[in-house]
Amino acid sequence: MRGIAGYHGSSDDVTAVGPDDTLDLGGLTLKFMPMPMVHWPDSMFTYCPERFCLMPNDAFGQHLASSARFADEVGLDLAVEELVTYYANILMPLGPQVSKAVAKVLESGWVCKTIAPSHGVIWRERDIPTLIDTYERCTSGETEDKLVVAYSTMWGSTDVLAREIADGAISTGVKVELFDLAVSSFANITRHLFDSRALLMGSPTLHHGMLFRAAGYLQYLAGLKPAGKIGGAFGSFGWSSGATKQITARMTEIGFEMSQPDLTCKYKPTASDIEAAREWGAEYGRLVLKMGEASPEG
Ligand SMILES: Cc1cc2nc3c(=O)[nH]c(=O)nc-3n(C[C@H](O)[C@H](O)[C@H](O)COP(=O)(O)O)c2cc1C
Repeated sequence: MRGIAGYHGSSDDVTAVGPDDTLDLGGLTLKFMPMPMVHWPDSMFTYCPERFCLMPNDAFGQHLASSARFADEVGLDLAVEELVTYYANILMPLGPQVSKAVAKVLESGWVCKTIAPSHGVIWRERDIPTLIDTYERCTSGETEDKLVVAYSTMWGSTDVLAREIADGAISTGVKVELFDLAVSSFANITRHLFDSRALLMGSPTLHHGMLFRAAGYLQYLAGLKPAGKIGGAFGSFGWSSGATKQITARMTEIGFEMSQPDLTCKYKPTASDIEAAREWGAEYGRLVLKMGEASPEG
């Protein structure tokens, strides 16, 4: 109610409903299940028993706009990919609440033949097992033998390092996703980081610090509280590498375990810088594989 008043000036004409209420629409009824912090404090699931339809607010949603209404119409692969992207970028810090919400619905006895989130496509009965299974994997924090290399560059030296690091990691058998921050969406990077075990972040030094795109991405990520991941900082510099020092400090603050010392090179990478970058990337590949062996699913 405070939210409605805050946005619309007054909530005088609004009646609040809760778990003990049934709203009769004339032939169809609505029931309610409060789900605080999935993903706002006032989030609530709504259920229409006559239609076996769950309207779960942001849960099971995607940032997907389409003329098609249903997941099977846009294609299940795309719908699931967008579901995971949404989860990673919006719900990642709220995993325990989301997990409880899914369990509560499953235990509620509400038979769901349609799940219609507040945004994105609607899930029909045939695809609901896939939907629930995907959410259970998301909330479990399961990761792959995979790492993300994200970087920004002015004149290309940090780009050379990034590609060598990626090749080094690939040589160990892990999957690598490489992103130039100038042309990549933060949401897509985060979707891939979500099921990766490491983030290797690169920036050249500009006025003693990292480039604004690297700083911007780390600020975006900080609020999502990624947990259980290792990190690394790399970049080219001219006379003193302030960028990698800043990246290391910020990533440590966010919760990454910085597993190897920063990798830097002065101006353009030399043959030995390139060799060092490959080995640095390969070591991260080996660490990622080791983390997989140590994890319960590994
Ligand atoms: C405007 C500007 C400011 C810079 N400031 C620094 C600095 O404070 N410290 C430093 O070591 N290098 C500094 N550099 C040098 C770059 O870090 C260096 O040229 C680096 O190789 C660029 O990497 P890139 O090719 O990946 O863009 C600066 C370069 C520019 C253009």
